[in-house]
Amino acid sequence: SAAEKGGYDYFMLKEIAEQPRAVADTLLGRIGRDGRLSLDEMHITDAQLREIDKIVIIACGTSYHAGLIAKYAIEHWAGLPCEVEVASEFRYRDPILNSRTLVIAISQSGESMDTLMAVRHAREQRARVLCICNVNGSTMPRECDGVLYTHAGPEVGVAATKTFLTQLVAVYLIALYIAQVRGTKWGDEVFAMVQLLATMPEKVEQVLSTMGPVRELARSLADVKSVLFLGRHVGFPVALEGALKLKELAYMHAEGFAAGELKHGPIALIEEGLPVIVVVPPRARDVLHDKIVSNIQEIRARGARTIVIAEEGDTSVVPYSDTLIEVPAVPTLLQPLVATIPLQVFSCELATAKGHDVDQPRNLAKSVTVE
Ligand code: G6P
Repeated sequence: SAAEKGGYDYFMLKEIAEQPRAVADTLLGRIGRDGRLSLDEMHITDAQLREIDKIVIIACGTSYHAGLIAKYAIEHWAGLPCEVEVASEFRYRDPILNSRTLVIAISQSGESMDTLMAVRHAREQRARVLCICNVNGSTMPRECDGVLYTHAGPEVGVAATKTFLTQLVAVYLIALYIAQVRGTKWGDEVFAMVQLLATMPEKVEQVLSTMGPVRELARSLADVKSVLFLGRHVGFPVALEGALKLKELAYMHAEGFAAGELKHGPIALIEEGLPVIVVVPPRARDVLHDKIVSNIQEIRARGARTIVIAEEGDTSVVPYSDTLIEVPAVPTLLQPLVATIPLQVFSCELATAKGHDVDQPRNLAKSVTVE
């Protein structure tokens, strides 16, 4: 009913709008007054965390994209090697796991069969298995050694939105917590990041308040055949997530690439008028930033219509952007929390313009309980 949708036409719109609150709820009670994290629900002692020598993340769909971003955060802050794999592939090879491996399953529902079977496989190999989950008391939290709930509230729209943002918050918390327990060369940075995380609900709110032009852009592109997404570093999984959303909701051909791979193939796809959405890393990452700015120039010279997501005040991209979408300036690792939102709004609006029901896309289920 309209009341359940909080006055919005679709649950997805409501869930996108709820993101500041959802992010705040994921942080709630986990940052102490002294700025230290406590994640007791994970049921892993400091001694056990110090024994861990590798982290393996398993997930599917949008949750897998959260896992890809987690890898950057964990390897940087926690200083542990981290692998990420789609859950459906995991147990069909011979993953090397033992009691010093920490496996993190990421699943909104806690019920995806692919992820559940991977969790069982990991436990059989004696790995310690945690999950990041949104649904209290679902199967995965019951079968894992520990759980970090995202507390995003129920998500009805089939395409994940607020649960993705809160999964990101959860993986940042875990990476920073491991750094706090094990000690890291980034001690001061870890402390500063925890403080910054606490400000993310406002940044998310700020992005949401500037989405009018993104909606307009989406409507103007309702008839295009294909959209490409480019990113680097954590912007690469953001690009993958942007493309997935467009496939799920608008039934359009969409692909995400690591911008550095463009020259190794995808640049051949560029033709006159092809919309390409580029996630630009913060200017502070000068080398990556400048490389992606040259990518934007290259594709534009070949006729692409460039839609650029960059931090506010980044004037270097202005001459090469057909459309510029500004997001608040945040450290690179946290940028997915703000850069993903325009992509959610874009697909939702474009799909609606095509007349699709964004809450119930064809052929998809909210949680897939078969392998
Ligand atoms: C389904 C949904 C996706 C979701 C994926 C993983 O395919 O349509 O939106 O990302 O499952 O779900 P999970 O509950 O494990 O995060």
